[in-house]
Amino acid sequence: MRIIPDFITEAEEQQLHEEVEPYMNRLRYEFDHWDDAIHGFRETERKKWYPHNRDVLERVRQVAFDGAIMPYIHVLDLAADGVIKPHVDSTRYCGTTISGISLLSDSVMRLVRTDAQKYQQPSIEISTEAKSPDSDAVYGHRRFPEALLEDGFYADLLLPRRSLYIMCHTARYNFTHEILAKEQSAFLGAPIPKARRISIICRNDP
Ligand code: OGA
Ligand code: MN
Repeated sequence: MRIIPDFITEAEEQQLHEEVEPYMNRLRYEFDHWDDAIHGFRETERKKWYPHNRDVLERVRQVAFDGAIMPYIHVLDLAADGVIKPHVDSTRYCGTTISGISLLSDSVMRLVRTDAQKYQQPSIEISTEAKSPDSDAVYGHRRFPEALLEDGFYADLLLPRRSLYIMCHTARYNFTHEILAKEQSAFLGAPIPKARRISIICRNDP
């Protein structure tokens, strides 16, 4: 997992925002399904970008994907009170690498090992459903005992506004990722105010 601060300038952030805002504005935030991985969001996929924004995406392609094709560009608009719950992106639709540019707000991403149960102490109980790799439970750190969270099975990462993160291989497959809700948004003990956040997410093919 790599985070590159200031991957884009303020002007580039504004240009990306200006390109996606008119479209996003027409959509409503979805808050309906508590079961979904993401709560309080609207999203789109965009293929054609204005030339100045294409330049930024080209930089992502070079830095995160070694110049290989990056077929999906996903724009995710998370409301201030939205949350991305722990999940692993589908291995059917997404390859080894996921990268994201954060616009408009800082946020905190938490990675939690999906194989934490392998390392559990005998005294720690994990519900049997969490052992099935297909079950949602394995992606829900809230069902892991707090002890596991305290034992270093997770990492909180600050995603500053205008940064790029590159999540690949172990970080992508063996950890869930989530964006902490604004009430939990803290890094190294300091609160990280989380406002509306737009992420421009690139993925490769499986
Ligand atoms: C996702 C996701 C993270 C982000 O859409 O699967 O994890 O940076 N997004 O918005
Ligand atoms: Mn994801």
